[in-house]
Amino acid sequence: MGFQISKAVIPAAGLGTRFLPATKAMPKEMLPVVDKPAIQYVVEEAVDAGLHDVLMITGRNKNALENHFDHVSELEETLRKKGDHDKLKKVNQSTDLADMHYVRQGDPLGLGHAVLRARMHVGREPFAVLLGDDIIDARDPLLKRMIEVQGERNATVVALLEVPESQTHMYGIATVEPTDVEDVVKITGLVEKPPAGEAPSNLAIIGRYVIRPEVFDVLEKQEPGKGGEIQLTDALMKMAGAEEWTGGVYGVVFRGRRYDTGDKLDYIKAIVQLASDRDDLGPDLRAWLTEFVADE
Ligand code: UTP
Repeated sequence: MGFQISKAVIPAAGLGTRFLPATKAMPKEMLPVVDKPAIQYVVEEAVDAGLHDVLMITGRNKNALENHFDHVSELEETLRKKGDHDKLKKVNQSTDLADMHYVRQGDPLGLGHAVLRARMHVGREPFAVLLGDDIIDARDPLLKRMIEVQGERNATVVALLEVPESQTHMYGIATVEPTDVEDVVKITGLVEKPPAGEAPSNLAIIGRYVIRPEVFDVLEKQEPGKGGEIQLTDALMKMAGAEEWTGGVYGVVFRGRRYDTGDKLDYIKAIVQLASDRDDLGPDLRAWLTEFVADE
């Protein structure tokens, strides 16, 4: 049966071109979602699922990411002197979260290439990959369920979400067969961003994976795919087709709350949704939104 999974890999080396100019000098994973950078939600999720060893794949502008998870002495000292323990707690929250490691991607040649950079750190154990583009609501634990399924089947597990047909061209889309478990499907095919009208289903891969280490052997030989990038989806497709060697690929169908922060409109929606759920901001925000919509 499976290993005890302890490592999370978080690729954060993309160019974030959809958010220019905000991402000119800052990784998109540092964009705030209400008052926390997107990346902090993701590290918190990994830790909540029991993964305390976090490897971040960084690119240009990596300093902002490393600094966010490190101590910042002057600020801490100033807050300590002022006796502002609430704010000090907020500063230290990200520092004390996990055992953080970093590796550079070099050229951003695609998500598959970024994941391959984790090989030395991960070794021959299954590991989780979490993308900062997706925030999964902490009240709807997905990663824990994926880790459980990985352990039961000793396979690779991806997270799937039903999306409207109009959105399938934006995702990796899976062809699936049912299993004896309601929220688990077996993946028989995967295609990265199929053209409109050509998607084999409406089950989209979202940014959570629990992967067997054989992926590194596949990625090493992986040719560039869609967009000239080395695609993780293509490597997973190969793993699905080599079951005797890889254990196959399964999907956990997620029906909880997920906030997409990868594109501008969805990012704005994510902020409004998360802020509206908060006790300190929600009531005022909702009242203002109602007035705003009525005025429009
Ligand atoms: P995206 O394709 O959404 O990120 O990659 P991007 O390329 O930065 O975004 P745009 O389209 O230019 O705005 C999904 C995830 O994979 C990481 C990104 O940081 C993001 O978390 N990634 C992508 C890498 O780490 N390296 C890469 O070479 C590509």
